[in-house]
Amino acid sequence: MKKEIILTGDRPTGPLHLGHYVGSLKNRILLQDTCEQFVMIADIQALTDNFENPKKVHDNVMQVMYDYLSVGLDPKKTTFLLQSQLSALPELTMYYMNLVTVARLERNPTVKTEIKQKGMEKSIPAGFLCYPISQAADITAFKANLVPVGEDQLPMIEQTNEIVRSFNRLYKTDILVEAKGLVPQCARLSGMDGQAKMGKSLGNALYLSDSADLVAKKVKAMYTDPGHIRVEDPGKVEGNTVFEYLDAFAHDKVVVASLKEQYQRGGLGDMKVKNYLLEVLLEMLEPIRASRVLLEQNQDEVKKILFAGTQQAHEVTQKTLNEVKEVMHLIWK
Ligand code: TRP
Repeated sequence: MKKEIILTGDRPTGPLHLGHYVGSLKNRILLQDTCEQFVMIADIQALTDNFENPKKVHDNVMQVMYDYLSVGLDPKKTTFLLQSQLSALPELTMYYMNLVTVARLERNPTVKTEIKQKGMEKSIPAGFLCYPISQAADITAFKANLVPVGEDQLPMIEQTNEIVRSFNRLYKTDILVEAKGLVPQCARLSGMDGQAKMGKSLGNALYLSDSADLVAKKVKAMYTDPGHIRVEDPGKVEGNTVFEYLDAFAHDKVVVASLKEQYQRGGLGDMKVKNYLLEVLLEMLEPIRASRVLLEQNQDEVKKILFAGTQQAHEVTQKTLNEVKEVMHLIWK
Protein backbone atom coordinates (compact mmCIF):
# COMPACT_ATOMS: atom_id res chain seq x y z
CA MET A 1 0.00 0.00 0.00
CA LYS A 2 1.18 3.48 -0.79
CA LYS A 3 2.18 5.50 2.27
CA GLU A 4 -0.07 8.38 3.16
CA ILE A 5 1.49 11.78 2.69
CA ILE A 6 1.13 14.32 5.46
CA LEU A 7 1.63 18.04 5.24
CA THR A 8 0.93 20.02 8.34
CA GLY A 9 2.39 22.98 10.14
CA ASP A 10 2.15 25.92 12.46
CA ARG A 11 2.61 29.67 12.34
CA PRO A 12 5.74 30.76 14.16
CA THR A 13 4.19 33.57 16.18
CA GLY A 14 5.23 32.18 19.54
CA PRO A 15 6.23 28.95 21.20
CA LEU A 16 3.77 26.06 21.03
CA HIS A 17 1.40 25.34 23.89
CA LEU A 18 -0.58 22.44 25.33
CA GLY A 19 -3.45 23.18 22.93
CA HIS A 20 -1.10 22.44 20.01
CA TYR A 21 0.10 19.33 21.79
CA VAL A 22 -3.37 17.87 22.24
CA GLY A 23 -4.77 19.10 18.93
CA SER A 24 -2.05 18.04 16.54
CA LEU A 25 1.46 17.34 17.89
CA LYS A 26 0.43 14.06 19.50
CA ASN A 27 -1.01 12.80 16.23
CA ARG A 28 2.06 13.88 14.31
CA ILE A 29 4.33 12.03 16.71
CA LEU A 30 2.28 8.86 16.20
CA LEU A 31 1.91 9.22 12.42
CA GLN A 32 5.56 9.83 11.66
CA ASP A 33 6.16 6.07 12.02
CA THR A 34 3.78 5.04 9.28
CA CYS A 35 3.38 8.05 6.97
CA GLU A 36 5.61 10.26 4.91
CA GLN A 37 5.36 13.39 7.02
CA PHE A 38 6.26 16.98 6.16
CA VAL A 39 5.96 19.57 8.93
CA MET A 40 6.01 23.18 7.84
CA ILE A 41 6.90 26.27 9.78
CA ALA A 42 4.45 28.63 8.12
CA ASP A 43 6.31 31.93 8.36
CA ILE A 44 4.67 33.45 5.27
CA GLN A 45 1.28 32.73 6.78
CA ALA A 46 2.42 34.16 10.12
CA LEU A 47 3.28 37.39 8.33
CA THR A 48 -0.28 37.80 7.08
CA ASP A 49 -1.26 39.08 10.51
CA ASN A 50 2.19 40.06 11.77
CA PHE A 51 3.50 42.03 8.81
CA GLU A 52 4.48 44.93 11.07
CA ASN A 53 6.62 42.59 13.09
CA PRO A 54 8.71 40.38 10.80
CA LYS A 55 11.50 40.06 13.37
CA LYS A 56 9.12 38.38 15.80
CA VAL A 57 8.16 35.83 13.15
CA HIS A 58 11.80 35.26 12.27
CA ASP A 59 12.80 34.71 15.88
CA ASN A 60 10.00 32.26 16.55
CA VAL A 61 11.01 29.94 13.72
CA MET A 62 13.74 28.40 15.86
CA GLN A 63 11.47 28.35 18.92
CA VAL A 64 8.97 26.24 17.03
CA MET A 65 11.77 23.95 15.80
CA TYR A 66 12.84 23.41 19.42
CA ASP A 67 9.24 22.63 20.32
CA TYR A 68 8.90 20.11 17.50
CA LEU A 69 12.10 18.28 18.26
CA SER A 70 11.70 18.34 22.03
CA VAL A 71 8.24 16.74 21.98
CA GLY A 72 9.55 13.89 19.89
CA LEU A 73 9.16 14.69 16.22
CA ASP A 74 12.13 12.83 14.82
CA PRO A 75 14.09 14.28 11.88
CA LYS A 76 14.77 10.73 10.69
CA LYS A 77 11.05 10.24 10.23
CA THR A 78 9.68 13.76 9.68
CA THR A 79 10.85 16.34 7.14
CA PHE A 80 10.80 19.90 8.49
CA LEU A 81 10.55 22.86 6.19
CA LEU A 82 10.44 26.62 6.22
CA GLN A 83 7.62 27.99 4.08
CA SER A 84 9.27 31.26 3.02
CA GLN A 85 12.19 29.45 1.42
CA LEU A 86 10.02 27.57 -1.06
CA SER A 87 9.15 29.83 -3.98
CA ALA A 88 6.81 27.26 -5.53
CA LEU A 89 4.30 28.00 -2.77
CA PRO A 90 3.56 31.67 -3.49
CA GLU A 91 3.63 30.83 -7.19
CA LEU A 92 0.95 28.17 -6.77
CA THR A 93 -1.01 30.55 -4.54
CA MET A 94 -1.12 33.09 -7.35
CA TYR A 95 -2.53 30.55 -9.81
CA TYR A 96 -5.12 29.26 -7.33
CA MET A 97 -6.33 32.79 -6.59
CA ASN A 98 -8.23 32.78 -9.87
CA LEU A 99 -10.29 29.83 -8.68
CA VAL A 100 -11.61 31.37 -5.46
CA THR A 101 -14.09 34.20 -4.99
CA VAL A 102 -13.68 36.93 -2.41
CA ALA A 103 -17.15 36.04 -1.08
CA ARG A 104 -16.01 32.46 -0.48
CA LEU A 105 -12.97 33.67 1.45
CA GLU A 106 -15.14 35.96 3.53
CA ARG A 107 -17.34 33.00 4.42
CA ASN A 108 -14.47 30.85 5.67
CA PRO A 109 -15.37 30.34 9.35
CA THR A 110 -11.79 30.29 10.61
CA VAL A 111 -10.89 33.47 8.76
CA LYS A 112 -14.13 35.08 9.94
CA THR A 113 -13.39 34.32 13.59
CA GLU A 114 -9.82 35.57 13.31
CA ILE A 115 -10.89 38.81 11.62
CA LYS A 116 -13.24 39.47 14.51
CA GLN A 117 -10.63 38.51 17.11
CA LYS A 118 -8.02 40.78 15.60
CA GLY A 119 -10.41 43.68 15.03
CA MET A 120 -9.75 43.68 11.28
CA GLU A 121 -13.42 44.03 10.26
CA LYS A 122 -13.03 47.57 8.93
CA SER A 123 -10.00 46.91 6.77
CA ILE A 124 -8.97 43.37 6.04
CA PRO A 125 -5.50 43.01 4.53
CA ALA A 126 -5.81 41.13 1.23
CA GLY A 127 -2.94 38.88 2.27
CA PHE A 128 -4.81 37.81 5.36
CA LEU A 129 -8.08 37.19 3.55
CA CYS A 130 -6.21 35.03 1.05
CA TYR A 131 -4.22 32.92 3.45
CA PRO A 132 -6.51 29.91 2.97
CA ILE A 133 -5.39 29.91 -0.68
CA SER A 134 -1.78 29.93 0.38
CA GLN A 135 -2.55 27.08 2.75
CA ALA A 136 -4.12 25.19 -0.15
CA ALA A 137 -0.85 25.71 -2.01
CA ASP A 138 1.05 24.26 0.96
CA ILE A 139 -1.07 21.15 1.11
CA THR A 140 -1.35 20.50 -2.62
CA ALA A 141 2.31 21.19 -3.38
CA PHE A 142 3.15 18.07 -1.37
CA LYS A 143 0.16 16.14 -2.75
CA ALA A 144 -0.71 15.53 0.87
CA ASN A 145 -3.77 13.40 1.49
CA LEU A 146 -3.72 13.66 5.27
CA VAL A 147 -3.52 16.80 7.42
CA PRO A 148 -3.37 16.25 11.20
CA VAL A 149 -4.53 19.51 12.73
CA GLY A 150 -6.72 21.08 15.37
CA GLU A 151 -10.40 21.30 14.69
CA ASP A 152 -10.24 25.01 13.79
CA GLN A 153 -8.31 24.09 10.64
CA LEU A 154 -11.02 21.92 9.05
CA PRO A 155 -12.50 24.83 7.03
CA MET A 156 -9.03 25.30 5.51
CA ILE A 157 -9.00 21.74 4.28
CA GLU A 158 -12.50 22.06 2.92
CA GLN A 159 -11.44 25.14 1.00
CA THR A 160 -8.31 23.37 -0.23
CA ASN A 161 -10.40 20.52 -1.59
CA GLU A 162 -12.69 22.93 -3.42
CA ILE A 163 -9.61 24.39 -5.11
CA VAL A 164 -8.36 20.92 -5.98
CA ARG A 165 -11.67 19.98 -7.58
CA SER A 166 -11.96 23.26 -9.53
CA PHE A 167 -8.40 23.02 -10.72
CA ASN A 168 -8.64 19.41 -11.85
CA ARG A 169 -11.95 20.01 -13.58
CA LEU A 170 -10.96 23.26 -15.32
CA TYR A 171 -7.62 22.04 -16.57
CA LYS A 172 -8.81 18.48 -17.23
CA THR A 173 -6.27 16.80 -15.06
CA ASP A 174 -5.91 14.77 -11.90
CA ILE A 175 -2.57 16.07 -10.69
CA LEU A 176 -3.90 17.73 -7.54
CA VAL A 177 -4.95 15.52 -4.66
CA GLU A 178 -7.74 16.02 -2.13
CA ALA A 179 -6.78 15.91 1.53
CA LYS A 180 -8.45 14.64 4.65
CA GLY A 181 -8.19 16.44 7.96
CA LEU A 182 -7.32 14.35 10.97
CA VAL A 183 -8.61 15.74 14.23
CA PRO A 184 -8.10 13.80 17.44
CA GLN A 185 -11.15 12.69 19.41
CA CYS A 186 -10.43 15.06 22.24
CA ALA A 187 -9.08 17.85 20.09
CA ARG A 188 -9.78 20.99 21.97
CA LEU A 189 -8.22 22.06 25.21
CA SER A 190 -9.76 24.96 27.10
CA GLY A 191 -7.58 27.86 28.12
CA MET A 192 -6.31 27.94 31.68
CA ASP A 193 -8.87 30.68 32.35
CA GLY A 194 -11.73 28.39 31.33
CA GLN A 195 -12.30 29.98 27.90
CA ALA A 196 -13.23 27.49 25.21
CA LYS A 197 -9.87 27.67 23.45
CA MET A 198 -6.25 27.93 24.50
CA GLY A 199 -4.51 30.58 22.46
CA LYS A 200 -1.49 32.78 22.56
CA SER A 201 -3.51 35.88 21.74
CA LEU A 202 -6.02 34.95 24.44
CA GLY A 203 -3.31 35.05 27.10
CA ASN A 204 -4.45 31.76 28.61
CA ALA A 205 -1.87 29.28 27.36
CA LEU A 206 0.53 26.90 29.03
CA TYR A 207 3.62 26.62 26.85
CA LEU A 208 5.68 23.49 26.38
CA SER A 209 8.69 25.66 27.21
CA ASP A 210 7.32 27.22 30.43
CA SER A 211 9.56 26.83 33.49
CA ALA A 212 8.39 24.69 36.40
CA ASP A 213 7.78 27.84 38.45
CA LEU A 214 5.64 29.35 35.75
CA VAL A 215 3.66 26.13 35.33
CA ALA A 216 3.01 26.15 39.09
CA LYS A 217 1.89 29.75 39.01
CA LYS A 218 -0.44 29.19 36.08
CA VAL A 219 -1.95 26.03 37.57
CA LYS A 220 -2.57 27.81 40.86
CA ALA A 221 -4.55 30.51 39.06
CA MET A 222 -6.51 28.05 36.91
CA TYR A 223 -10.25 28.25 36.45
CA THR A 224 -12.23 25.64 38.43
CA ASP A 225 -15.84 25.70 39.60
CA PRO A 226 -16.68 29.26 40.66
CA GLY A 227 -19.46 27.86 42.89
CA HIS A 228 -16.99 25.74 44.87
CA ILE A 229 -16.09 28.13 47.63
CA ARG A 230 -15.46 26.14 50.80
CA VAL A 231 -13.64 22.82 50.88
CA GLU A 232 -16.70 21.06 52.22
CA ASP A 233 -18.97 22.36 49.42
CA PRO A 234 -19.81 19.92 46.63
CA GLY A 235 -18.05 20.97 43.42
CA LYS A 236 -18.72 20.55 39.71
CA VAL A 237 -16.45 18.47 37.53
CA GLU A 238 -18.06 19.34 34.19
CA GLY A 239 -16.74 22.60 32.84
CA ASN A 240 -14.00 22.52 35.47
CA THR A 241 -10.77 23.12 33.61
CA VAL A 242 -8.58 21.38 36.17
CA PHE A 243 -10.52 18.13 35.73
CA GLU A 244 -10.56 18.59 31.96
CA TYR A 245 -6.75 18.73 32.03
CA LEU A 246 -6.57 15.72 34.34
CA ASP A 247 -8.69 13.78 31.84
CA ALA A 248 -6.37 14.89 29.05
CA PHE A 249 -3.01 14.28 30.72
CA ALA A 250 -3.21 12.04 33.80
CA HIS A 251 -2.33 8.39 33.17
CA ASP A 252 -3.85 7.10 36.38
CA LYS A 253 -7.55 7.16 35.56
CA VAL A 254 -8.40 5.50 38.89
CA VAL A 255 -6.93 8.39 40.87
CA VAL A 256 -8.76 10.88 38.66
CA ALA A 257 -12.06 9.06 39.11
CA SER A 258 -11.67 9.06 42.88
CA LEU A 259 -10.74 12.75 42.95
CA LYS A 260 -13.82 13.54 40.88
CA GLU A 261 -16.02 11.54 43.20
CA GLN A 262 -14.65 13.30 46.30
CA TYR A 263 -14.89 16.71 44.69
CA GLN A 264 -18.52 16.23 43.72
CA ARG A 265 -19.39 14.93 47.17
CA GLY A 266 -17.65 17.86 48.89
CA GLY A 267 -14.60 17.83 51.11
CA LEU A 268 -11.91 18.17 48.47
CA GLY A 269 -10.31 21.58 48.04
CA ASP A 270 -9.24 23.07 44.71
CA MET A 271 -5.63 23.34 45.88
CA LYS A 272 -5.37 19.56 46.37
CA VAL A 273 -6.63 18.85 42.87
CA LYS A 274 -4.42 21.53 41.42
CA ASN A 275 -1.39 20.10 43.17
CA TYR A 276 -2.08 16.74 41.63
CA LEU A 277 -2.49 18.31 38.19
CA LEU A 278 0.77 20.17 38.69
CA GLU A 279 2.52 16.90 39.42
CA VAL A 280 1.04 15.33 36.28
CA LEU A 281 1.99 18.30 34.09
CA LEU A 282 5.52 18.59 35.42
CA GLU A 283 6.13 14.90 34.87
CA MET A 284 5.07 15.31 31.27
CA LEU A 285 6.83 18.61 30.61
CA GLU A 286 10.13 17.91 32.41
CA PRO A 287 11.66 15.65 29.72
CA ILE A 288 10.45 18.03 27.02
CA ARG A 289 12.15 20.94 28.73
CA ALA A 290 15.35 18.99 29.33
CA SER A 291 15.52 18.07 25.68
CA ARG A 292 14.87 21.68 24.74
CA VAL A 293 17.85 22.89 26.77
CA LEU A 294 20.13 20.59 24.79
CA LEU A 295 18.62 21.68 21.50
CA GLU A 296 19.10 25.35 22.34
CA GLN A 297 22.77 24.64 22.90
CA ASN A 298 22.94 23.11 19.44
CA GLN A 299 21.24 25.78 17.44
CA ASP A 300 23.40 25.17 14.36
CA GLU A 301 22.48 21.50 14.26
CA VAL A 302 18.80 22.34 14.52
CA LYS A 303 19.11 24.88 11.73
CA LYS A 304 20.81 22.26 9.59
CA ILE A 305 17.87 19.91 10.11
CA LEU A 306 15.45 22.61 9.01
CA PHE A 307 17.50 23.60 5.97
CA ALA A 308 18.08 20.02 4.84
CA GLY A 309 14.34 19.34 5.08
CA THR A 310 13.55 22.52 3.21
CA GLN A 311 15.91 21.45 0.42
CA GLN A 312 14.09 18.15 0.14
CA ALA A 313 10.77 19.97 0.13
CA HIS A 314 12.04 22.26 -2.59
CA GLU A 315 12.34 19.32 -4.96
CA VAL A 316 8.88 18.01 -4.14
CA THR A 317 7.17 21.38 -4.49
CA GLN A 318 8.98 22.32 -7.71
CA LYS A 319 7.84 19.09 -9.26
CA THR A 320 4.20 19.85 -8.47
CA LEU A 321 4.62 23.43 -9.65
CA ASN A 322 5.94 22.19 -12.98
CA GLU A 323 2.99 19.88 -13.41
CA VAL A 324 0.63 22.74 -12.64
CA LYS A 325 2.37 25.05 -15.10
CA GLU A 326 2.31 22.36 -17.74
CA VAL A 327 -1.49 22.00 -17.69
CA MET A 328 -1.87 25.80 -17.51
CA HIS A 329 0.26 26.27 -20.65
CA LEU A 330 2.84 28.22 -18.72
CA ILE A 331 5.90 26.27 -19.71
CA TRP A 332 7.79 28.01 -22.49
CA LYS A 333 10.57 26.30 -24.32
N1 TRP B 1 -3.01 27.51 9.55
C1 TRP B 1 -2.08 26.83 10.40
C2 TRP B 1 -2.02 27.61 11.75
O1 TRP B 1 -2.71 28.58 11.92
C3 TRP B 1 -0.69 26.73 9.86
C4 TRP B 1 -0.56 26.10 8.50
C5 TRP B 1 -0.05 26.70 7.38
C6 TRP B 1 -0.93 24.79 8.11
N2 TRP B 1 -0.06 25.85 6.33
C7 TRP B 1 -0.60 24.67 6.74
C8 TRP B 1 -1.52 23.72 8.77
C9 TRP B 1 -0.87 23.51 6.01
C10 TRP B 1 -1.80 22.57 8.05
C11 TRP B 1 -1.46 22.46 6.69
O2 TRP B 1 -1.27 27.25 12.62
